[in-house]
Amino acid sequence: MSVQPSTPESTKRPAMTMHSLMKMYSEGEKITMLTAYDASFAAVADLAGVEIVLVGDSLGMVCQGHNSTLPVTLEAMRYHTECVARGLQKQNGRPIILGDMPFASYASPEQAFESASVLMKAGAHMVKLEGGAWLAPTVSYLVTRGIPVCGHLGLTPQSVNTLGGYRVQGRTDSGAEQLMQDALQLQHAGAQALVLEMVPAVLSAKITKALTSCATIGIGAGVDTAGQILVLHDMIGVTQGKVPKFAHNFMNESGTILGAMKAFVNAVKEKRFPVNELHAW
Ligand code: KIV
Repeated sequence: MSVQPSTPESTKRPAMTMHSLMKMYSEGEKITMLTAYDASFAAVADLAGVEIVLVGDSLGMVCQGHNSTLPVTLEAMRYHTECVARGLQKQNGRPIILGDMPFASYASPEQAFESASVLMKAGAHMVKLEGGAWLAPTVSYLVTRGIPVCGHLGLTPQSVNTLGGYRVQGRTDSGAEQLMQDALQLQHAGAQALVLEMVPAVLSAKITKALTSCATIGIGAGVDTAGQILVLHDMIGVTQGKVPKFAHNFMNESGTILGAMKAFVNAVKEKRFPVNELHAW
């Protein structure tokens, strides 16, 4: 008797590409992103239908036990990106792999290219950098050389020391205007996605509307961004210490990790997550 293996759910959807991601964006379908740092969780995120897996430098906190992302090395990011890529390869790799550029790895366009190449060779399809207009020449340098870029504005954890803590950004008129200008410049430089972290919901909605070729992905930024990202450990309830107010534990209503990830995907697609009141900063 032969036992037919059940078809993995991930094979029911085509592999994501930058092209299909931008198509989703232009058609207004909400984009889902979760962090993953190893092969197993990346594979579950794939089964849940997540479009982008972020190998975030948050691994410095949730995997390595540091109290900031600053100690994370490029070698650590390369290692975890490779683990995620291997896990997805087994399932024909449906999500886009987004590799986070660690602190001090992109101080110049040339250094950024060297660092991004390491992540791309490890399996990333796109890289993420934290910062505003000052990064525009770097973004353009990378995009011109074949490396898709995701920006990151608002609370940028690698700048925690200059920001004076993990705080909401863009609350003042000048701060809000600065974020808007930064977003426009990153888009102009060629960024195709932009994480907005801890930004007032009204402002992130305005930025999302102003951008035409760059998909905003919110975390603590309200429901009107083009997509949503959560840190895996926050959404399955294993984060030790302080959990951000905007995070939601999807395990409570789901019971399994796959169920929690599916619940996140469904809630984002149906605009039930996040609830804007939670982000009325
Ligand atoms: O490193 C990370 O997990 C991130 C997300 C919080 C967006 O940058």
